[in-house]
Amino acid sequence: MIGIVLAGGNGTRLYPINSYLSKQLIPIYDKPLIYYPLSILMLSGIKEILIVCKNNQKNNYYNLLGDGSKFGIKLTYVIQNEPKGLPDAFIVCEKYIKNKRVCMILGDNIFYGSDFVSKQIIKNFNSKKCTIFAKSVFEPQRYGVIVKDKKNNIVDVIEKPLSDISNLAITGLYLFDDNVSELSKKLTPSKRGELEIVDLIKNYLENDNLNLEILGRGVAWFDSGTFQAYMEASNFVKAIEERHRVKIACLEEIALNKELISIDHLKSTIQNLASSEYKDYLNNIVKNY
Ligand code: G1P
Repeated sequence: MIGIVLAGGNGTRLYPINSYLSKQLIPIYDKPLIYYPLSILMLSGIKEILIVCKNNQKNNYYNLLGDGSKFGIKLTYVIQNEPKGLPDAFIVCEKYIKNKRVCMILGDNIFYGSDFVSKQIIKNFNSKKCTIFAKSVFEPQRYGVIVKDKKNNIVDVIEKPLSDISNLAITGLYLFDDNVSELSKKLTPSKRGELEIVDLIKNYLENDNLNLEILGRGVAWFDSGTFQAYMEASNFVKAIEERHRVKIACLEEIALNKELISIDHLKSTIQNLASSEYKDYLNNIVKNY
């Protein structure tokens, strides 16, 4: 399986910061936002990951993450200069996907919960060709939602519904089969001029190929599109990290635990770091290894 982190977009709601920095590089508490979705892919055992970003941000991403070798993974940067909608990622990434299954995560989505580690929910790929992950939310109008009938069958998926038709939001984590690029190319742009992920999902629904995983109470989900959302997610991360003295989405730690890197590899990474709280944290991992 190949992973995609979608880190393009204009992030206009984050002006003036978005005028020089991609929104997925803005910190959530003590690390850049993109660390969090990347951590989910790594925890799921995905080692080959495409970062879809704008050309003028590629260097920033590269300076931060490099080719992925410090985390024992392979990162490739794929350029998407215009945000043409989420399924466009499958078109720009087509030559890398080939005959692989795909796990796409939106670069502004943060998930936290043991399900991603213990249940291996991504790895346990269902026989259906598309899996989406949903979570009940307070403001469904902000998301794509799932509509079910009385027998609990999915009957529709709607982007940003105007009415209170469902509070089950589609999170920014999706699994697709190797046909996803072909199907994306057949989509037509919506009224807002973008290819819509719900139209792609509908395609799988109509062919009885859609699997739904509901994320329960043990999973927290944030998407960060506004300054308020950054603050809320940052406070959440800060509370967990200070209370338990563990970092959420420390990629080097995940790499070590998943045996993607050796302890010596981690030691050499640490040697190149200037003094910081992050370095102290990594040093402590080495000490207790
Ligand atoms: C996108 C998707 C939407 C999904 C959401 C999750 O919305 O279009 O279906 O529920 O991500 O974060 P956007 O954040 O681009 O408005």
